[in-house]
Amino acid sequence: MKAVILAGGFATRLRPLSCSRPKTLFPIVNKPLLQWIFEGLTTNNVTEVVLAVNALTQFHIKQQKPAKCGLKIKYAIDPPKTPLGTAGPIKNTEKIVKYEEPFIVLNGDIFADIDYKQLMDAHVKTGALATIALHKVEDPSRYGVAELDKNNRIKNFIEKPTKEQAPTNFINAGIYILDPKIFDYIPKGKQCSIEREIFPTLAKEHKLFGHLIEGLWMDIGKPEEYLQANKIILDKIYEKNKSKLSKNIEAKKPVAIDKRVIIGKKTVIGPYAILGKNVVIGDNVQIYDSIVFSGAKIGDNTIIKGAIIGEDAVIGKNVQVNIGCIIADQAKIKDNLNLTKELSVCPAKEISETILKRNIIC
Ligand code: GTP
Repeated sequence: MKAVILAGGFATRLRPLSCSRPKTLFPIVNKPLLQWIFEGLTTNNVTEVVLAVNALTQFHIKQQKPAKCGLKIKYAIDPPKTPLGTAGPIKNTEKIVKYEEPFIVLNGDIFADIDYKQLMDAHVKTGALATIALHKVEDPSRYGVAELDKNNRIKNFIEKPTKEQAPTNFINAGIYILDPKIFDYIPKGKQCSIEREIFPTLAKEHKLFGHLIEGLWMDIGKPEEYLQANKIILDKIYEKNKSKLSKNIEAKKPVAIDKRVIIGKKTVIGPYAILGKNVVIGDNVQIYDSIVFSGAKIGDNTIIKGAIIGEDAVIGKNVQVNIGCIIADQAKIKDNLNLTKELSVCPAKEISETILKRNIIC
């Protein structure tokens, strides 16, 4: 099987962390999301992947080099200054995917543990032109909800209905099986949305089907979703801390500590702390419910709760970083400061005074 991964979006909801990395390379428990996706595809007998990206995303992926897991990887690059949306990049893969057999398409910002083969079988059985993986949620009001007939044919999508209005609890999971005939529906070299332009046409033509997927499914589109996805995966794959810690380190499970991390005395890590490689943490620090990207430095007596600290960021001594804060890559927070809840600090920005009002500091 072949798969196309859409990963050339701008991830505006994950700014400022996404100013310096594409969403698909955000680490999930210290491993880029894209690598998790590759692993999932390999275990489902996918052999070839086309990354539908823009030139900058391709650059980041080639720099970071996530493990390919034995997959043959090709790129389909959006034209310069023309983001193609969610359908245009699929058209852009036409020459690589070829007009042969149905293929998988998935959003590069989804963590899902699903059986692609089962999805493919359902697609072949109904003779659909497109089959959308549907995920069941408790409250569908934030999503596009599928209205189905008794044969799982999608009649309609209802965007963000109230809980009461929603015809089902089944939402578009951002994972599809498409027949190559789909290429005839998408304009070439133009921005086009699969959800808003292509699927409604297919629904009208009775060629759009849904298939309910079981198993883990998470969207990392927003900071709180990204933190939550890390927590869930940390719970699932919790491993004993293997890095060398000084005797005075207290780690409250679950935690994940990558290579070459240095942790000072009387520091308490966790629960739910994820430390990337080369992180340096001082004495008497508390970090919980948080993600610290690689190379960040945290000074003595600092408290970090429910926050994300970017790559190579420097947090001074005696600082409080509160719930929902995002400190982007290479930002610097000076000593003795208090950062209020949900404060975002842009890359390389230096903060030298306490901030008590929710804000984005650039
Ligand atoms: P937000 O700006 O936060 O909404 O994020 P996004 O636009 O990056 O993601 P969205 O959830 O809207 O898009 C779904 C998937 O399509 C993601 O994996 C994106 O990377 C991808 N995508 C969105 N727009 C483009 C595009 O113009 N080109 C390509 N190649 N992929 C895209």
